[in-house]
Amino acid sequence: TPVTVVTIDGPSGSGKGTIAALLARELGWGLLDSGALYRLTALAAMNHGVDFTDESSLEVLAGHLDVQFLPSETGEGLSIILEGERVGESLRTEDVGAMASKVAALPGVRAALLQRQRDFAELPGLVADGRDMGTVVFPGAALKVFLTASAEERAKRRYEQLHQKGISASFDRLLADIQARDERDSQRTVAPLKPADDAIILDSTRMSIQEVFNKVLEQMRLKG
Ligand code: C5P
Repeated sequence: TPVTVVTIDGPSGSGKGTIAALLARELGWGLLDSGALYRLTALAAMNHGVDFTDESSLEVLAGHLDVQFLPSETGEGLSIILEGERVGESLRTEDVGAMASKVAALPGVRAALLQRQRDFAELPGLVADGRDMGTVVFPGAALKVFLTASAEERAKRRYEQLHQKGISASFDRLLADIQARDERDSQRTVAPLKPADDAIILDSTRMSIQEVFNKVLEQMRLKG
């Protein structure tokens, strides 16, 4: 039996990570957060003092990324161990996201991470989220969702998320960061952020997480 794959692509802050995690749990399937691999490559480059323009060194780094995804003690999410050290919340910061989108624009880095991403596909199924899951990594996926939302709404969500954690942030700065990252991710020549031809496009700007999740489940049922 082939592994069934569902892909959820979209810009940062669209809710794709949340939806992918909910869906994987609902189905009892594996989960691939592909953005984490690009973020980890950026962190490894920082740790080793590798310049973000040094494509051949970054390619080697990405190909040999020493990373483990372990179930966390709390049972919520995964513990990520990079080169023997636990990576905390720092992985999710906008700064690391911006660095990730720089290394992600390099074809050598993307090629080095391709097989590693495909190796996540194990029975019975996989939910994969990112930018090019449906277009490049899993072109044969059973269901492809492209989840988007306005940049203002995504900045607002990020602002509220940080606020809840007691972290102060400037809304205008968050919006500018999101727009810059969207621009870089959509304009790059390799695997740009765009919906696959056979993707279902969902705009979550005026939808709750539950509403989006229900829509995705509905699509799964339609696809049988
Ligand atoms: O999804 P996340 O915000 O964690 O991704 C961080 C960056 O990694 C993105 O801005 C994008 O440049 C890159 N990325 C990518 N392809 C993917 C997932 C992430 O290029 N499949």
